[in-house]
Amino acid sequence: METVVSGIRPTGELHLGNYFGALRNFIKMQHEHNCYFFIADYHSLTTHPTPHDLHGHVKSVLINYLAAGLDPEVSTIYIQSDMPQVAELYLLLNMNAYIGELERVASFKEKIRTQPNNVNAGLLTYPTLMAADIIIHRATKVPVGKDQGQHLEMTRTFVNRFNRLYNVEYFPEPVAYNFGEDLIKIPGLDGSTKMSKSDNENSCIYLSDSPELIRKKVMRAVTDQGPTEPMQAKPQPIINIFDIMAAVSPKETLEHFEGLYNTCQIRYGDMKKQLAEDVIVFNAPFREKIQELSSNNDYLRKVAKHGAEKAVESASKTIKEVREIIGFKSF
Ligand code: ADP
Ligand code: TRP
Repeated sequence: METVVSGIRPTGELHLGNYFGALRNFIKMQHEHNCYFFIADYHSLTTHPTPHDLHGHVKSVLINYLAAGLDPEVSTIYIQSDMPQVAELYLLLNMNAYIGELERVASFKEKIRTQPNNVNAGLLTYPTLMAADIIIHRATKVPVGKDQGQHLEMTRTFVNRFNRLYNVEYFPEPVAYNFGEDLIKIPGLDGSTKMSKSDNENSCIYLSDSPELIRKKVMRAVTDQGPTEPMQAKPQPIINIFDIMAAVSPKETLEHFEGLYNTCQIRYGDMKKQLAEDVIVFNAPFREKIQELSSNNDYLRKVAKHGAEKAVESASKTIKEVREIIGFKSF
């Protein structure tokens, strides 16, 4: 049994990318490992420092976690800011995190490009807070999508540095995890390579989307004139539709449309209609539970409180030991 940590930022509803990249693994792992799954509300301030509905978004991610099948009696489900010990570990790790290495992180460079008017220190030190999230429970496995690979590398750098500088073997090295497979990336409906709420709302299918909305979004997905030669390579937007179909549809359906594509007989309208129906079937159980949970504030409060207690217990132990290692002593 290993210790597992992962989190998702509360910046909106969860989409199919979040599900296949992260949440699906949370659910599988909870019965095999000692798991901590949190809602990264501190992290969401790096991009949205004055959020318009922070609590609403936190609630929505919590509901999505539970609707997808996370069991609060089995794993520890908590809200990052309910465990402020992580902020202390973040502070301590920042003392040994170097500006140069933080500036070189791809996600930071990307943010400089996309939000040049809000390049704050929290954004720069995003990887140190993420490392603190993981190592505060001394986790070894971190279920995340492909885009988080570099952040995990940074975490390992901070772990090794901590152990070396303080001459201890205290923190284990965590690895990104996707059930023995390569890390996953679900593409967007708008032709982009990553389904992401940060980039384009229209590229996303949310687990809570209604059948009508799913049909509308999928039918609008970007396609082209279709192949003109047998076995032609697919352009990105077409790869995307096939990749989403591979995630949600039965294997035979995918093979059927692969065959039509390869023989130039494909009609994207038909393919999209089928894809929309398969997404609707896939989403149905999530959507139903999301609706059920939305009005159950008492239950959500209980879950959050129970999770916070368990998380704080684990984090306090680590902080106490880290303080001793660094040399803080009480009089
Ligand atoms: P977004 O990019 O929509 O803002 P987050 O950055 O909050 O989503 O991602 C939360 C989790 O979901 C992370 O583990 C991330 O790797 C995963 N994830 C997000 N989008 C995708 C995607 N399109 N494919 C696979 N995993 C994804
Ligand atoms: N950076 C992650 C994302 O954007 C969210 C996150 C914050 C996280 N802290 C974490 C994921 C710790 C795994 C472990 O999706």
